[in-house]
Amino acid sequence: MDKKATKNRGQWASNLGFILAGAGSAIGLGNMWKFPGKVGVAGTVDGQALGGGFFLITYILVVFLIGFTVMNAELALGRNTKKNCVGTFKALNKKWSIVGYLSMLTPFVIMSYYSVVGGWVIKYIVTYLCGANFVGGYENYFISFITNPISPLFYFAIFLGLCVFILLKGVSSGIEKLSKILMPILFILLIAIAIRSITLDGALEGLKFMFTFNTKTINPKMLITAIGQAFFSLSLGMGIMITYGSYVKKTDNIIKSATSICFLDTLVAFIAGCAVIPAVFATNTNLGMGGGFAFIALPSVFVQMPAGNFFGLLFFLLLFFAALTSAVSLFEGNIAYVSEEFNISRRKSIFLLIIPMTLLGVGYSATQGAFTFNLPWFDVAHGFNMISMANFMEKLTDNLTIPLCALLISLFVGWSWGTDNALKEIEQKGTFKFKLYKCWAFSIKYIVPVCLVTILVYTIGFGIGLS
Ligand code: PHE
Repeated sequence: MDKKATKNRGQWASNLGFILAGAGSAIGLGNMWKFPGKVGVAGTVDGQALGGGFFLITYILVVFLIGFTVMNAELALGRNTKKNCVGTFKALNKKWSIVGYLSMLTPFVIMSYYSVVGGWVIKYIVTYLCGANFVGGYENYFISFITNPISPLFYFAIFLGLCVFILLKGVSSGIEKLSKILMPILFILLIAIAIRSITLDGALEGLKFMFTFNTKTINPKMLITAIGQAFFSLSLGMGIMITYGSYVKKTDNIIKSATSICFLDTLVAFIAGCAVIPAVFATNTNLGMGGGFAFIALPSVFVQMPAGNFFGLLFFLLLFFAALTSAVSLFEGNIAYVSEEFNISRRKSIFLLIIPMTLLGVGYSATQGAFTFNLPWFDVAHGFNMISMANFMEKLTDNLTIPLCALLISLFVGWSWGTDNALKEIEQKGTFKFKLYKCWAFSIKYIVPVCLVTILVYTIGFGIGLS
């Protein structure tokens, strides 16, 4: 396949640039509000805030035992073939191509709704810039905005337009450059907000909650939640790290890069916890999950703190940067696939993809309340149920295609391509030593598949959601 799109493949200019781009993909909305929300829920039993300590420990273990394992596998696959996800599986074993297609579908669907939410974030930045006038109260303001048939689409278009603008510039001068600028700023903003939050009156209660270990909080659901969160947060199980890995030079050490990305993503999630949870405790707000939490509860938290509007603005800027660097990674996998497999330019691929993506995003936005369009969802315990299109898109990816795709990737690397081939790719004829190879190989062959099958049993068997 010596086609023009393949010959002109992008490549990260530096290893640091790749680490920041990988961290940019991983660090996203999932870190900023899903993670603190999950600490809150996992640490609360029967309405009593007992402590999130065990969830935090479990999460760290899951990231390094399972997340790191899969990330290494995905990066090795991509760098080995230097192809997009579909091309990677076609090159290594045609029979597994379906995994490539599956890893195209997930980011495509997520991208369409992530961009709608990215648009909401821009709307809030504008609101804060215009004096933080949340007409009718926080809840009303949010609901009437997202259920409006037109206004969210305008912001969605801005967000998507920005992604296109960056992606048109390519891998190194687009994604890498963006991440190099935004990630350090994101880090500084987050630290500033965390310091503000921790120094509020009554904030220590929140910190204490995060780091209190109470055995009553230990249960299987906690483990499942931690695994689901780790996969989403590390951008695994959707071919993104295969695509990003395909732009890594053979002279770079992927184990080190994977370790750095996992570390940075987890560090940011923890700091986000320290930024959100103490403030929520100090203002007696309910620590819930989901979009409503960031858009309804948090603005009401900010308004109660000194210089609250300023910190509210900073927080939504932070969300915006996090969302943008994640969104470009979601889009990139699809662009690489279309341009390489159909041998067309990046530019053309972007414009081809943007049409169905926009339609799907419009559907997601419209079914927030302006229109009703239901789709059937199935799980063994509850049978078929009609759910809104918006809900369907989230369930499809979080509960089904991400764990399924990650399972197939681990089975492929563990049992078909083989861990020794992965080792060769990682070590590059002994240039790099993979000291933990044996543990890694055991994990990718046994631990990861068992965990992922358990997750699928939970979500598709019992209908218990991860998000
Ligand atoms: N990892 C990102 C987050 O935590 C979301 C994301 C998922 C980005 C999948 C890319 C791919 O929000």
